[in-house]
Amino acid sequence: MLLKSYIKETFETKRYYLTIKETLMTKKDCLVIAHRGASKYKPENTLLAYDLALKIGVDYLELDVQLTKDQVPVVYHDSDLSKKTDIKGSIQDYTYEEIKNLDVGKWFGEEYRGTKLVNFETVLRLYGNQFNYFLEIKNPTDGIEQIIFNLFEKYRIDLTNHRVVIQSFDQNCLLKVREMDANIPINQLILKKTEEEMPYSLTEISTYAEGLGINQSNVNEQLLSEANRIGLKIYPYTVNDSEKMQQFIDMGVTGIISDCPDLVKSLNLN
Ligand code: G3P
Ligand code: CA
Repeated sequence: MLLKSYIKETFETKRYYLTIKETLMTKKDCLVIAHRGASKYKPENTLLAYDLALKIGVDYLELDVQLTKDQVPVVYHDSDLSKKTDIKGSIQDYTYEEIKNLDVGKWFGEEYRGTKLVNFETVLRLYGNQFNYFLEIKNPTDGIEQIIFNLFEKYRIDLTNHRVVIQSFDQNCLLKVREMDANIPINQLILKKTEEEMPYSLTEISTYAEGLGINQSNVNEQLLSEANRIGLKIYPYTVNDSEKMQQFIDMGVTGIISDCPDLVKSLNLN
């Protein structure tokens, strides 16, 4: 379906429009989202970082899922493997068998040498519904959305009550997710720095998403007031500075995506 007609249809029917009151925000003002796990303290997107996030007790685990050449979903952030591993190219250039023992910890510190790349299925098998997930689909390749949903089903992941939020920088991928599931919360991710550079208007985003994950440098009172007006939640990333965290909490963002979720949590409880 053409994007414009899809948006028009969904906007008109509002068949999956969710209000701000339907969030997990029952006890606290601002959701604590562990970016790639507790990645300030442990190598990102590894079981070590996820275990620590679980111990801290976060509202959501944020993780990056992409497919290998043979369509196995793994958790890894970068497009370029050479930045943090010993091999070149991208996840999509290798079969799972070829990279399943990839060392994704050594770059972070010698003591983490030997930490292996994590299969997304392993995350669901190990943690299941112990976490709520902010699942980012990275570099979407054909079929990734269905593969992820099949795994949710296999591991009986609870998709109700906003326990899983799907996010991506790729709008087409998010529209596919919306077609597959009319209710799952979706966050459009935006990288751009100025309003002029925004690839989509907030109004357009609100037709298929309920939230916007946006670089913290773009978050200001004006954005929040416009977003509040149309019922779009705002999640600044990646906020690691306590003063900035406090500012965002005071401004009323829905959640903060941080490498040090313990810090967000401590401020949020004050
Ligand atoms: O959750 C949003 C944030 O993770 C998007 O940026 O580059 O860290 O995946 P990135
Ligand atoms: Ca991410």
